Amino acid sequence: MGNIEKRKVLITGSLGQIGSELAGALCERYGGDNIVTTDIREDENGCLACAERFEKLDVLSIEDFNRVVSENDIDVIYHLAALLSAVAESSPQKAWQINMEGLFNALEVSRENGCSLFVPSSIGAFGPDTPLDDTPQDTIMRPHSMYGVTKVSGELLCDYYNLRFGVDTRGVRYPGIISNVTLPGGGTTDYSVEIFYRAILDGRYTCYLNPDTSLDMMYMPDAIKAAIDLMEIDPGVLRHRNAFNVTAMHFTPEMIAAEIRKFIPGFEITYENDPVRQAIADSWPNNMDDSAARDEWGWLPEYGIEEMTRDMLEVLGAKAEKGELKI
Ligand code: SER
Repeated sequence: MGNIEKRKVLITGSLGQIGSELAGALCERYGGDNIVTTDIREDENGCLACAERFEKLDVLSIEDFNRVVSENDIDVIYHLAALLSAVAESSPQKAWQINMEGLFNALEVSRENGCSLFVPSSIGAFGPDTPLDDTPQDTIMRPHSMYGVTKVSGELLCDYYNLRFGVDTRGVRYPGIISNVTLPGGGTTDYSVEIFYRAILDGRYTCYLNPDTSLDMMYMPDAIKAAIDLMEIDPGVLRHRNAFNVTAMHFTPEMIAAEIRKFIPGFEITYENDPVRQAIADSWPNNMDDSAARDEWGWLPEYGIEEMTRDMLEVLGAKAEKGELKI
């Protein structure tokens, strides 16, 4: 058994879109007895049963956060508890509190307990002044959304804790994540998941973004791989830390609808624009350059738009046949 298997890992926001699948992948990799899952909600449906321990944890309580980490002798924290872009825009004060105070607590707890810390940043860290095509790793970042403000501030704070206190902070700028287990909640890119559910259940979807809005996307298996690979790499090879551009594909609503039609020929998409989410999407990259992640730690996604679409429709279609597909 190498060092990797011996890691004790804690996840915050474990019941969220990424957390629920990351927990399963980490249990498989390091063993369920090495994984502590936490969330502000109870795990009522036993979604996180693979992990030996689940703790109800509000990341805004630094005492509780510290207790769970020190009691369990944690080596690595995946700090996923945060509000997404659209919901953050409807409650900016709350978003600052959860995204920034929660992160501050995660950093302090990591500093005190000597933990490595993974913090997801986002395409939301960019803004309208950023070059929107082939968005470079290092470029102008002046987001206009509260979500973006917390993501850029978070990246800076993570770098600060690394430089000032030597905390091993690492992160990626995730694009929209497409998954077939847990629905995303309150993001601008959520349409890219909803469209699959609606295509199967109703054969039609009304999209809140314009047909030609291009955004970076990634299928969940690649998002999980990015998080695990980045945390397992020898930090000596990293020139950047917080946070790496990573992407797997980019498409518009029109393009993904055409892809779905290859499997469901009668699928119809209509458009009813939501100005808040459209403005956010328009200020985000059309497609990011993720060569720094590829060069520094070997990032390489497995799923493009075709492979992802086929797999989504297969998995969700099987659920629908059993009467288990709900949105
Ligand atoms: N999927 C996220 C959102 O839409 C982007 O980080 O908020």
